[in-house]
Amino acid sequence: MNKDQLKKKYNLKVKELTKHNRLYYDKSKPIITDAKYDDLKKELIDLEIKYEYLKNNNSPNLKVGFEPSKSFQKFKHKMPMLSLSNAFDENDLLNFEKKIFNYLNKKMKLSYSVEPKIDGISASLTYIDKKLKFGVSRGDGEVGELITENLKTIKDIPLEIKNKDFPNEIEIRGEVFIKKNDFFKIKDKFANPRNAASGSLRQKNPLETKKIPLNFIAYTFGYSRKYFKKCQSDFLNDLKRWGFKINNDNKILNSIDELLKFHKSFEAKRFDLDYDLDGLVYKVNDLNLQSRLGFTSNSPRWAIAHKFSADSANTKVIKIEIQVGRTGALTPVAKVEPVNIGGVVVSNATLHNEDEIKRKDIRIGDTVTIERAGDVIPHVISVDFSKRKIASKKFIFPKKCPCGYDTIKEFNKVTKKFDSVRRCPDRGFQCEKIAIEKLKHFISKEALNIDGLGKKVVEKFWDLNLLKKPQDIFFLKYDKIIELEGWGEQSVKNLKNSIENSKKVSLQRFIYSLGIRHIGIENAKLISDNMKNITNFIDLIKSKQFDSFLNIDGIGETQIKSLKNFFSNKSNTNIVIELSSLLKIESQILNGNGILKGKSFMFTGKLNGISRAEAKSLVEKNSGSTLSNVSKNLDYLVVGEKATNKKVEQAKSLGIDIISLEELKKLLD
Ligand code: IVH
Repeated sequence: MNKDQLKKKYNLKVKELTKHNRLYYDKSKPIITDAKYDDLKKELIDLEIKYEYLKNNNSPNLKVGFEPSKSFQKFKHKMPMLSLSNAFDENDLLNFEKKIFNYLNKKMKLSYSVEPKIDGISASLTYIDKKLKFGVSRGDGEVGELITENLKTIKDIPLEIKNKDFPNEIEIRGEVFIKKNDFFKIKDKFANPRNAASGSLRQKNPLETKKIPLNFIAYTFGYSRKYFKKCQSDFLNDLKRWGFKINNDNKILNSIDELLKFHKSFEAKRFDLDYDLDGLVYKVNDLNLQSRLGFTSNSPRWAIAHKFSADSANTKVIKIEIQVGRTGALTPVAKVEPVNIGGVVVSNATLHNEDEIKRKDIRIGDTVTIERAGDVIPHVISVDFSKRKIASKKFIFPKKCPCGYDTIKEFNKVTKKFDSVRRCPDRGFQCEKIAIEKLKHFISKEALNIDGLGKKVVEKFWDLNLLKKPQDIFFLKYDKIIELEGWGEQSVKNLKNSIENSKKVSLQRFIYSLGIRHIGIENAKLISDNMKNITNFIDLIKSKQFDSFLNIDGIGETQIKSLKNFFSNKSNTNIVIELSSLLKIESQILNGNGILKGKSFMFTGKLNGISRAEAKSLVEKNSGSTLSNVSKNLDYLVVGEKATNKKVEQAKSLGIDIISLEELKKLLD
């Protein structure tokens, strides 16, 4: 068979396997036996081993299960399911405690509930009148999938609780996971225990979930009507009494020293445990303190995850790819033979830049040690030179960007050195590689925030020629999209909606969304404050008088050079002009004569139906200002749900007006 014939054969088999994956994982209706399926998978893997060039992104080796079914109902969490911030060493822990003391304005001896951080997936169980009513996955933290029936198949999850003191309404949260030895039996189907748990939990057919031995360990509550206990450890004991499983290794410790000692001893025995874990969770034991400390935007102030040290593994570099980022930086990435590092299959490792490859002399074919620490992208630590083949050649870093342009290394006037990063000169949307990254930036949360148009979708639309420039977003061919795999009437409707909603955008966000190098959120705000409206901005980019920005405090030569460079390209200017006619770019009313002129506001607590950022911008749009501390300069304290008592008390003592969000809205009427 020649290369082409082999490729054809391989692709046909990939297609066949994908079909059976869908039938098995998504539709829960396999039409071939497990043995036949395994044979098919093995044939493919053998082909890949023999003819390495066949491997691509569709490789069944890289795929795990099947995407979660779209058919689950969405369920909004009453309290968001947040994540935990991480600590890696003593310093991080001391800092964590220091922040607590600062927040409480008091030093004290803290007791901690210490719990192993099982590496599974979290789930929320709402019990009403002592019966399990809703079981929900974490989802994006705000909205999850309603998977009650699937969760009900897990033997550790009680369906009904008889105890008298069990609250009438409570949401219990915990981790769904698979034990290591159970995973061993099904390891051909999933890449790691975590994927096995998540894949099986989201099967459309609960009978499929039941086939896989899942476990549940409870560890916290989301919300509760009437649960007033003093400590997390009391709560854990209650959970046990009520019939939930809790971790046998939970502990109470009373100082950072004790935490460090326990962490060390527990890390040493982590591999002897029958479940995967990636660290320990420390929670301030006092529930009253917990509620006073509350949450930052994404994690509780009263808890932290103390991670175990980085995991590493040896593998082989298959090839070195050059990726181009939004600002034109060429980043080399090692594609390595997939290797399981601490429960995660790693097949890419960043090589940072040209100098790093030179320094470590990393070559294609080398055996390397890869490290993965927390959520950081895995990277190569060292090369095992003893395993290097004599014929191996030094890696020559390309001088051209994959788009064909010559790359440059910039000279840094301050350090008087050339940058270690090689770049494709940022010509805006001209380099294909940069353009696609710019599109991803354009739709991102802080920019136009188009839900339903994630990075993967952008890539797909790009490949299908549906999307090449930002303005294409507003002329998408929905009749084509609806035909694509994974799309349906509802998802197209959602996409249309979020695109429509994104049209109304502030000047600041709009400038940021262009993805001009060195113009991040802060600088975009400075420029927008200065320009006030889009007409002024367009006049300026046409006249290219960017030097006038030197008057703006915070904007320097670097930013001006970058703006000049971006707009030296006519097509970038045209993109801005075209976008300005498609979007509704709101003017910045600053120091204007809005109704809140001269008044200052501060927010505390969760505001109903409006984010803090939005509330702030509402005040600013009406010429008011916002402060971050209660002081005598403050005019109004706007109080939402679960407001911090301390702030309210301070405001009261200074005679500051305390109002609700509704009252603020009335002021605006
Ligand atoms: S408490 C507000 N306790 O870690 C966060 N989480 O990074 C409250 N996890 O999504 C979570 N063991 O999946 C908590 N004993 C434990 C945990 C635990 C594992 C996971 C959980 C959560 C993630 C947070």
